Amino acid sequence: MKTVRSREPAPPAGAEFTPEEIRKDFPILGGIVYLDNASTGFSPEPVVEALVDFEHRYRSNVGRRVHRLAQMATQRYEHAHEKVARFIGGEAGVTVFTKNATEAINMVAQGLSWKPGDRVATTVLEHHSNLLPWRALAKQGVALDMIGIDADYALDLAALEDTLAGGGVRLVTVTHASNVLGVTTPVAEIARLCREHGAMLLVDGAQSLPHMPVDVAQIDCDFLCFSGHKLFGPTGTGVLWMREAILEPTDLGGGMVESVTAEGFVPAEGYRRYEAGTQNIGGGIALGVAVDYLSAIGMERIRRHEEHLTARLIRGLSALDGVGVYAGRRPDARIGIVSFTVDGTHPQEVARVLDEDADIQVRSGLHCCRPLMEHLGLLEGGTVRASVAAYTTEEEIDLLVAAVDDIGRGC
Ligand code: ALA
Repeated sequence: MKTVRSREPAPPAGAEFTPEEIRKDFPILGGIVYLDNASTGFSPEPVVEALVDFEHRYRSNVGRRVHRLAQMATQRYEHAHEKVARFIGGEAGVTVFTKNATEAINMVAQGLSWKPGDRVATTVLEHHSNLLPWRALAKQGVALDMIGIDADYALDLAALEDTLAGGGVRLVTVTHASNVLGVTTPVAEIARLCREHGAMLLVDGAQSLPHMPVDVAQIDCDFLCFSGHKLFGPTGTGVLWMREAILEPTDLGGGMVESVTAEGFVPAEGYRRYEAGTQNIGGGIALGVAVDYLSAIGMERIRRHEEHLTARLIRGLSALDGVGVYAGRRPDARIGIVSFTVDGTHPQEVARVLDEDADIQVRSGLHCCRPLMEHLGLLEGGTVRASVAAYTTEEEIDLLVAAVDDIGRGC
């Protein structure tokens, strides 16, 4: 069997990371300046090879099958779960593969048993994915509290504490990093407050996982979800990690039962309980390769590289006349997501011109965050958003800043 290239041994943790180490693994990067990584990232060649390898050599369903293809697929699919669990320090919990972070959040919202009077606390920073599943619980008498942010876009921890002290909060659900402002939230501190007040904590790591080390044991959360496609993995992959298998499975069917009787069924143990039906098997295996790839680089090295790029991006844009910058203020509490506006030019137009004239891809609009945009007074057209990844270079940041300068000056 063809082996997927290994990047071991990892460079020493202290050595500075340079994107040239990996750019050759991303042929799609040739000729474009891709700064829409908060939407989705690219997969390096070893991840693509793993997908092709599955299709060409051992595509099979997984589980109780004896033939050789099934054994190979099952072993690799299980191993991928173990690798992802290790990547997030979650070996002691249950690591379930989902199709994305949105599905994972819905599994928590629908899998806990709610009673009227229960409360859920979330924040104004959230993507609609971490808002709508909780709003839908109103039908079951569950109330939703929205925690605000201060002038530096930092989460209002005092308000969260007051809300928790008010009683009835079963779950706090918070993004680890805003997909609009890039600010991170102090999830370990939030977890401590949750423990004090008997609430569970769900961390939405969709934006943070690709950019920094994340360890569920250190955070001490109850649930962590994230998408694979932002993490160098394939689209249609995601993860729900939970401390214990306390959720009712939302999907029932083949593969998730231990036994079926005349009266009912006994659900399978571990992740299988939550993965009914045939899953994205090749995608899951490739996601395991993606976390290997990132681990071999070192998440702390990626974080430092991106911190440097983010500071350069904010500095560059902030120096331009007529450009408003919306980004986390504290370098130690933000990732490489920067929103901005250009006076007199609609964000959609800025994004179109950047693409057409400068081959630069960014996102524009409300970024699926209407409550936050309303809070920022930006509901009209939203913002332009640039977001970096490990493969982003200083030169690309400078190209963006120069292109935005041209647009601002009407060139
Ligand atoms: N959540 C992704 C974004 O913010 C899709 O662009």
